[in-house]
Amino acid sequence: MRIGILGAGMIGGTVGRLWADAGYGVTFGVRHPERLRPMLGEFGGKARAGSAIDAVDGADIVLAAIPFRAWPDVAAEIGATLGDKALLDATVPDPPRDGAFGDAALARGDGVAFAVAPLLPRAKLVRAFSTVMWTTLQSQAHRAGDRIGIPLAGDDKEAVALAARLVADAGFDPVVVGPLSQSRRFDPGAAVFDSDMSGPQVRAALGVV
Ligand SMILES: NC(=O)c1ccc[n+]([C@@H]2O[C@H](COP(=O)([O-])OP(=O)(O)OC[C@H]3O[C@@H](n4cnc5c(N)ncnc54)[C@H](OP(=O)(O)O)[C@@H]3O)[C@@H](O)[C@H]2O)c1
Repeated sequence: MRIGILGAGMIGGTVGRLWADAGYGVTFGVRHPERLRPMLGEFGGKARAGSAIDAVDGADIVLAAIPFRAWPDVAAEIGATLGDKALLDATVPDPPRDGAFGDAALARGDGVAFAVAPLLPRAKLVRAFSTVMWTTLQSQAHRAGDRIGIPLAGDDKEAVALAARLVADAGFDPVVVGPLSQSRRFDPGAAVFDSDMSGPQVRAALGVV
């Protein structure tokens, strides 16, 4: 399975490294692929870099790890190529960095996912990797004992199952919370957001059995 990753910064680069270590091929989609050359050398031949279209085109599944404000432009660029593929979305609005688009997403009340979903109506959207800081992902993957919990929500059961497998292979405990409408329960401001809770703690906090 090949994974496309939009963005190769703190989240994209960290999760990409964990997937490459797990044996997956990853293609980063960024605006300046040439700048990634030094970093790619550390991926043991498992990673490539190209445009956003390059990353999406050859991928079985895509992770979005771009600034939230970039969504309108990126969605317009990749929409036709992405089609109905599974899209794991780690993006989070961060005021004031993400401008009016980010502010509007946070003000919706039904979940920031619903600011993104209409931009890519055919994609099988799954919120994933949106709650845990990159330093925790980097230092706590595959830890002994209870692993860090990663809440997931999406409407397509197969896409959510695939996301859960990829979360586990990256070294974390996938917590399937429910359909996309449940993702607001782990948006910014929620108890589990940026909490470094373990999987069992996330399940208890969100009432997931
Ligand atoms: N950092 C965290 O701990 C953390 C935790 C949870 C969720 N998140 C969310 O994850 C997303 C990524 O965060 P990050 O910390 O990884 O950001 P980052 O380190 O700034 O990386 C952003 C990546 O996106 C690319 N990018 C920037 N502007 C773009 C644009 N206009 N169009 C397309 N690509 C663009 C950048 O590469 P180019 O400039 O070369 O295109 C870069 O590789 C954000 O939405 C953030 O809120 C972050």
